[in-house]
Amino acid sequence: MNMNKRPESMARITTPELANAFIDEQLAALRAQIGDKKVLLALSGGVDSSVVAALLIKAVGTQLTCVHVNHGLLRKGEPEQVIEVFRGQMKANLVYVDAVDRFLDKLAGVSDPEQKRHIIGAEFIRVFEEEARKLNGISFLAQGTIYPDILESDGVKAHHNVGGLPEDLQFELVEPIKFLYKDEVRVVGKALGLPDNMVFRQPFPGPGLGVRCIGAITRDRLEAVRESDAILREEFARNGLEGKVWQYFTVVPDFKSTGIKDGKRTYDWPVIIRAVNTVDAVTAECAELSFELMQKLVARITSEVPGVNRVLWDLTPKPSATIEWE
Ligand code: XMP
Repeated sequence: MNMNKRPESMARITTPELANAFIDEQLAALRAQIGDKKVLLALSGGVDSSVVAALLIKAVGTQLTCVHVNHGLLRKGEPEQVIEVFRGQMKANLVYVDAVDRFLDKLAGVSDPEQKRHIIGAEFIRVFEEEARKLNGISFLAQGTIYPDILESDGVKAHHNVGGLPEDLQFELVEPIKFLYKDEVRVVGKALGLPDNMVFRQPFPGPGLGVRCIGAITRDRLEAVRESDAILREEFARNGLEGKVWQYFTVVPDFKSTGIKDGKRTYDWPVIIRAVNTVDAVTAECAELSFELMQKLVARITSEVPGVNRVLWDLTPKPSATIEWE
C-alpha cells in the first residue's frame, strides 16, 4: 500500500459534519501514535500549520510545543494573532521567537530573488533547529503537509526546499492533514473553531513580504510593503471582497520617482497593487475592481504610508507575468 496515496474510500470533506467525523478519527489516531510523548510544530499562522496545531492541541494538549518564528517578513498583525489565538485562546505551549534582526541582517544587500529565498529558507531551518535543541525529549515533528504538496513537490513545503533538519534531529513525522485538499483543510479549520481570517486566508509565500520588497530588502521599504498591504486588506474586507478575490497584495520596487507634497518636491517609492483571480495559480487574471475603490486605495496609501508618493496598478495576467514579482 502506498502510504502517500489518498485512500480511494475517503469522501471529500465538504460539510461541518464530515469535518467533525474527520477530526474525531484524527484525534484517536494522533493519541494512538503519540501516546505520552512530545511533539514539535513550526507554526507559521498559515491555514495548514494552524489546523495541525489545533488538532494536536485537542489530541495531546501541552505535549505539543509550537514554535512561531517571526522572520520580520510577516504581514501586519500576524505574529500577534498567532500568540492571541494559540497561547491566549487555545492555551497552547507556544514558543515565540523574535528573529527579525537576524533575518534582516542576513538579507541586507542581497538583491537576487533566488538567493533571498534561499537565505530565508535556510535561516528558518537554523532558527527552528536551535529551538528544537533547547527542548528536551521531543519524539515527533508535526507538519502541515497537505495533499497538493505530496502530488506537486514530493511532500515538501515550498519554503523548506533548502534541506531539512540535521541527522540527529530526525524526529518521527506526524502529518494529520496530508490527504486533504486546501478546501477541505479550511472546512476542518472552521470546525475546529479557528477564526475566519485564519481559515480563509489568501495564499502567502513562505518567504513572505521578502519577495514583495523588490531587490535588496531595506527596513523602510519593508515597512512600506507591510503598511500598504494592511490598508489593501482592510479596504478589501470593508468592500466585501475578502474571500472573493483570490490573492491581493502590494509590492514596493527599488526605484523612486518625483512627486509633490505640501508644495514641496518629493523623491519617494511607488506602491504597486496586484489583485488576481485564479483557479490553480498556474494561470491568473487581474481582478476587476471599482474605480472608486482604486481611488480610495491611492488616497489612503499615499497619505498614510511614509516614503510613498505614487500608486501603480498591475493589470498583467499570468502569463506573461507571474503572480508575485520575484
Ligand atoms: P507565482 O508568482 O509563481 O505564484 O505565479 C503562484 C502562487 O504561489 C505563491 N508563491 C509561493 N508560495 N513559497 C510559497 O509557499 C514561495 O516561495 C512562493 N512563491 C510564490 C504565490 O503567492 C502564488 O499564490
